[in-house]
Amino acid sequence: MEQELIRCSGLSKSFAGKPVLGDISVTLNESEFVSVLGPGKCGKTTLIKLLSGLEMPDTGEVLMRGEKVTAPSPERGVVYQNTMLFNWLSVLGNVRYPIKKLGRQESLARAKKYIDLMGLSGFEKAYPSQLSGGMKQRCGIARIYAMRPQIIFMDEPFSQLDAQTRYLMQLELEKIYLGEGQTVLFVSNNIEEAVYLSDRILVMSAQPSHIIREFRVSLPRPRDYMSSEFVALRAEIESCLSEAENE
Ligand SMILES: Nc1ncnc2c1ncn2[C@@H]1O[C@H](COP(=O)(O)OP(=O)(O)O)[C@@H](O)[C@H]1O
Ligand SMILES: [Mg+2]
Repeated sequence: MEQELIRCSGLSKSFAGKPVLGDISVTLNESEFVSVLGPGKCGKTTLIKLLSGLEMPDTGEVLMRGEKVTAPSPERGVVYQNTMLFNWLSVLGNVRYPIKKLGRQESLARAKKYIDLMGLSGFEKAYPSQLSGGMKQRCGIARIYAMRPQIIFMDEPFSQLDAQTRYLMQLELEKIYLGEGQTVLFVSNNIEEAVYLSDRILVMSAQPSHIIREFRVSLPRPRDYMSSEFVALRAEIESCLSEAENE
């Protein structure tokens, strides 16, 4: 039985009188990995802001386990396109920073666990200026997971990375997601990445946006990018997305 974690209905949002989100209704279940694809500027980042509580909608509401979301919370982690790290703290220091209140032993153990899981062991003492773009994103993801939120929003976290690094990050993210089991809402600009990672894929229209289609991805994991089912689904989503772009 799928257990609902977060739900929004009838969400709309305008900026300076310009409607960006038209009418968005989304339900995310416990432990689900859901991706959002859509044309540029259709409001994907805005949707993450509303669902995570960083911004309030004009109409509609966001409910998490039945309670209205009205502000950001450590229960809702957000990973951005470019992770901002503290330059004067090491990898370990950065991952530990938000969980320091847990005490030295617990925060160190947790930080190390997620540093390992994101493939950064050996780099605990490195400073952000010594890290590649991919390693910074790994560090940002480890930092969010270490806080053990109930849902993690990811806003095109791999879009600045080269293709090879991006591919490796997909494998790392799948591993940590399958091991930890939190719900993930993943905004992507890459269909292949979304098909590889997701249980469901939502496609948004151009603004004022709504969800035009939902694809369920039931291929067994780990997925084979070259399998005929994978390739067929990717093509189907691609044509749906190009319709959305030309709307
Ligand atoms: N705080 C804001 N103030 C004014 N306009 C905004 C603000 N946030 C987003 N927008 C506008 O909303 C539209 C959607 O932005 P965004 O959610 O970032 O789209 P996406 O992430 O899909 O590219 C853009 O046209 C953007 O200029
Ligand atoms: Mg965006």
